[in-house]
Amino acid sequence: MENKLINIKNNAIPMIRDAETPQELEEVRVQVLGRNGQLTLAAKEIKDVPAEDRPRMGKVINEIKTIVEDAINTQLSSITNQQSKRKAAIDVTEPGIKPSLGHLHLITQAIHEITTIFEQIGFTRVRYPEVEWDWYAFEALNFPENHPARDDWETFFMKEEPDKEKGPMLLTPHTSSGQVREMERHVKQAKQTKQPIDIKMLNIAKCYRRQSDVSHTPMFHQFEGLVVGKGIAITHLKGTLDYFVKSYFGEKRTARIRPYHFQFTEPSFEVDVTCGVCLGKGCKLCKAGWLEMGGSGMVHPNVLKAGGIDPEEYTGFAFGWGVERVLMMKEGITIDDLRLLYSNKLEFHEQF
Ligand code: DAH
Repeated sequence: MENKLINIKNNAIPMIRDAETPQELEEVRVQVLGRNGQLTLAAKEIKDVPAEDRPRMGKVINEIKTIVEDAINTQLSSITNQQSKRKAAIDVTEPGIKPSLGHLHLITQAIHEITTIFEQIGFTRVRYPEVEWDWYAFEALNFPENHPARDDWETFFMKEEPDKEKGPMLLTPHTSSGQVREMERHVKQAKQTKQPIDIKMLNIAKCYRRQSDVSHTPMFHQFEGLVVGKGIAITHLKGTLDYFVKSYFGEKRTARIRPYHFQFTEPSFEVDVTCGVCLGKGCKLCKAGWLEMGGSGMVHPNVLKAGGIDPEEYTGFAFGWGVERVLMMKEGITIDDLRLLYSNKLEFHEQF
């Protein structure tokens, strides 16, 4: 009997080592250890063995069982290892996995769009410092020192010692701070070229104010237009507004200007655009059919003077609107909380 048992083991081990799949291994297991397997049947013959040899035979059967089981397990793990290695190898003939493509931030897209619209009618995009002198942000724009109108701009001031002429430093609360800088640049140029002053500026930049709620973020973007030349009139301003509104919002929307007050323009206007939902009829969203877009006006003579331009010779118009605001006024864009634009919530950004 002992020889028979050893033969079963000696037959089984090479079969196990040669097995190439888990199925082949299972077949060997059934053949040897299954209910009618060789070892199981052999174990039943133990009753024919002399009584004194039975315990030893029992031990041998158990040992062989363990050896066969161990061999099966070892072979099984080597088969699965090889399989996963084979999978990991690169099959260059397999079709590739397309990486998912993201898109530019909504505000970056809006800035590109606005820039293209204005470049088509001759505006040049410029950028001026975000950390700015009080002079350019307020004083040169006809805000006398300590004037209460400054409070509307909720400005962040720097701790540094103020400059004797330009005052304290601040985070610019609006892109209007680029107006006088642009005038200075053109005055210098005009002196060299001896050509008349001809400004068509588009200043798009980050602005900062002490504000944070569903419709305000401490950092936001504005785009500022400034046109200065000989004979510039309100009609040029209105034509530019209409052109922008049609290009950006679509043919169905129109603009209107409404008297208002700004320190740096005279006369000043607030610009409204017909609501994208009711197109001016009045609805729940807009109430009276119009949505407010931002400010505009004819450049105040004091501002031209601050920029070194003679207001008797030149006139100009200016406007300043929020990028976030015009984006939200576009059809099909609903942003419940503006702060989401500057969060890292991908689910929000991926819906556009
Ligand atoms: N700077 C103003 C603001 O932030 C907007 C503005 C109003 C800009 C009138 C202009 C303008 O250029 O003419 O509220």
